[in-house]
Amino acid sequence: MMLDGYGRNINYLRVSVTDRCNLRCRYCMPEEGISHLGHSSILSLEDIARLIKISTDVGVNKIRLTGGEPLVRKNLSQLIDYIAAIPRIDDIAITTNGILFADMATEFKKAGLQRINFSLDSLVDEKFKYITRRGDLQQVRKAIFKALELEMHPIKINVVVINGFNDNEILDFVELAYNYPFHIRFIEFMPIGDLFYWKKERMLSCDVIKSRVEQKYELITARTIKGNGPAKYYSINGGQGTVGFISPMSNHFCGECNRIRMTADGRLRACLYEKTETDLGAALYSGASDEELRQLFINVINRKPARHHMDDGWGVGNQRKMYQIGG
Ligand code: 5AD
Ligand code: SF4
Repeated sequence: MMLDGYGRNINYLRVSVTDRCNLRCRYCMPEEGISHLGHSSILSLEDIARLIKISTDVGVNKIRLTGGEPLVRKNLSQLIDYIAAIPRIDDIAITTNGILFADMATEFKKAGLQRINFSLDSLVDEKFKYITRRGDLQQVRKAIFKALELEMHPIKINVVVINGFNDNEILDFVELAYNYPFHIRFIEFMPIGDLFYWKKERMLSCDVIKSRVEQKYELITARTIKGNGPAKYYSINGGQGTVGFISPMSNHFCGECNRIRMTADGRLRACLYEKTETDLGAALYSGASDEELRQLFINVINRKPARHHMDDGWGVGNQRKMYQIGG
């Protein structure tokens, strides 16, 4: 176990396996002109597994694979296999847009993937196409129900609530969690990613979202769902699943943050909003020993800030976009 400078137990590593994505969500990526990491700077699956193993020496036991879109990375189930074989890892999860998931689900399950978070911002075909600029909603639906069929519980669905775009679907999402054992998580829209789309008026606070839900459904006090997230969960009276609220804007949860992040080219970040990165990739290529790499993990944990400084402005001095860090 490793406590950071503020007494937080850092046991959760989020690993971005690619900065590429098969969608172009308006709030995340521009339509064109995206520069990607070159193949030579992307860590191999073996190097990623090695770094994850070293992170377990400093207390990490939970891994989440993110992107971009992690499923566009070739042989991802091989990586899941590697991670599942690391003794101290007891939780492997993935965040995906679901487009490629249905066909890979069985393979993932066999490899040892335990949990999935789907990102889904609309339940209407044309609106889904609009917000993702290219996605087919039916593929995501298929993916989610495939996960259900394979009983890959808990199945979480992340919804970024955008006022004027999908706020009128809040109750439809809740209905999905009422009818099926899904965990719908409403996320406040944050000023990160592709800022051309972000506007203050497009942000709804979780308090507002929750009161909209309560116009139709009775929410019953918070429950714990397996995971590490900052969401507050409620059961729905009479329903199967739960509703969760993630409020990075109205109520930052940095005091309970247990995570660090690694980018696809092996840069370690102590906070999503942090500007400093530690280059594990370079250390690795120059032949660093496990012990030296372990020390780099320790340095990063030690410099984890007390809280994020999102208010100071994303992008100011921050060379990475959200899709390059993995959310
Ligand atoms: N505000 C809130 N959530 C966001 N995500 C990406 N960009 C933003 C933003 N600006 C979400 C994705 C996904 C997760 C990885 O982060 O929709 O659910
Ligand atoms: Fe891709 Fe996720 Fe960004 Fe959408 S939000 S473009 S799915 S990385």
